[in-house]
Amino acid sequence: MEPVVAPSSVVVRNYLGPGDERSLADDVLDGLTKPFKELPPKHFYDARGAALFDEICELDEYYPTRCERAILQARSGDIVAVCDASELVELGSGTAEKTRLLLDAMRDADSLERFVPIDVTEAMVRDCARTLVGEYPGLRVHGIVGDFERHLGRLPMAAGPRIVAFLGGTIGNFTPGSRRRFLRKIARLLRPGVDHLLLGTDLVKDPAVIEAAYNDAPGVTAEFNRNVLRVINRELDADFDVEAFEHVAFFDREREWIEMRLRASRRMRVDIRALDLAVEFAPREELRTEISAKFTPERLSGDLAAAGLELVDVLTDPDGLFALSISRRR
Ligand SMILES: C[S@@+](CC[C@H](N)C(=O)[O-])C[C@H]1O[C@@H](n2cnc3c(N)ncnc32)[C@H](O)[C@@H]1O
Repeated sequence: MEPVVAPSSVVVRNYLGPGDERSLADDVLDGLTKPFKELPPKHFYDARGAALFDEICELDEYYPTRCERAILQARSGDIVAVCDASELVELGSGTAEKTRLLLDAMRDADSLERFVPIDVTEAMVRDCARTLVGEYPGLRVHGIVGDFERHLGRLPMAAGPRIVAFLGGTIGNFTPGSRRRFLRKIARLLRPGVDHLLLGTDLVKDPAVIEAAYNDAPGVTAEFNRNVLRVINRELDADFDVEAFEHVAFFDREREWIEMRLRASRRMRVDIRALDLAVEFAPREELRTEISAKFTPERLSGDLAAAGLELVDVLTDPDGLFALSISRRR
């Protein structure tokens, strides 16, 4: 039976309008006309991309989700005790699967009032809002369908002390400069002495372990990577031969980040009719689709300090593969 939910406990606002189709169009126009082609990773996530990402999270090779979940299982009570928050804001919330461990701890501490998820995938925000109010009696959810790089100003006024959670290592998708700029934007959301940031970061480790996580045997990450081409075909009336692009993922040892690329298996001309654009690919030419930066303790504390944040605690899994840090505004 469907849980009975007071309609007023769920609000979902969608800030992605016709202008946001432009955001894909602009990124494609910029990114595919550069000498080294590249696209930002947020365009992987239509409904199919989001489902593929969920599959990735359950793969043996993909340790980040497993490790972050282990930290949350062991330490959510401690996190909630330190932050003493009644509201959880989550950037790039997805299915909010691990988030439930935090919500459980807030409920057990009798402090849980409101959850504010923000994600670009509308179905995900709506489903997760509806499910969570059923699972947590009395919980209010204010969901935001939007781009966390552009719509942080749309967050509702804080109803109480807040945890802003940014999990999954998604911060690693930013290049170093824009990462610090984005962390500064997050810092400005936090009220000194009241709110906290809970940040998930994947750690630098044996490159073989990292590379295996992005080159899984069943090929789910490869399908996820190619999904961006399917999104462009559908949204911008393009004719990418999706299967003619090979998934490439390697650890750049100097920059300490993973790069995901798509490599053209042959010479190709792609027509992107909505942009009146033809794009040429040389044989073996690569298109960068994601970076995922890995962190050392110094990189993490340096980035947080540069954003005006101070570390309260860093929690890791028993194998030291992944870190969850709690920080607050200086
Ligand atoms: C790597 S997944 C992490 C999902 C979840 N937080 C977790 O830890 O498993 C990134 C999530 O962020 C969302 N996302 C990516 N870029 C975004 C953006 N610019 N604005 C809002 N959401 C974004 C994606 O839709 C996806 O749900």
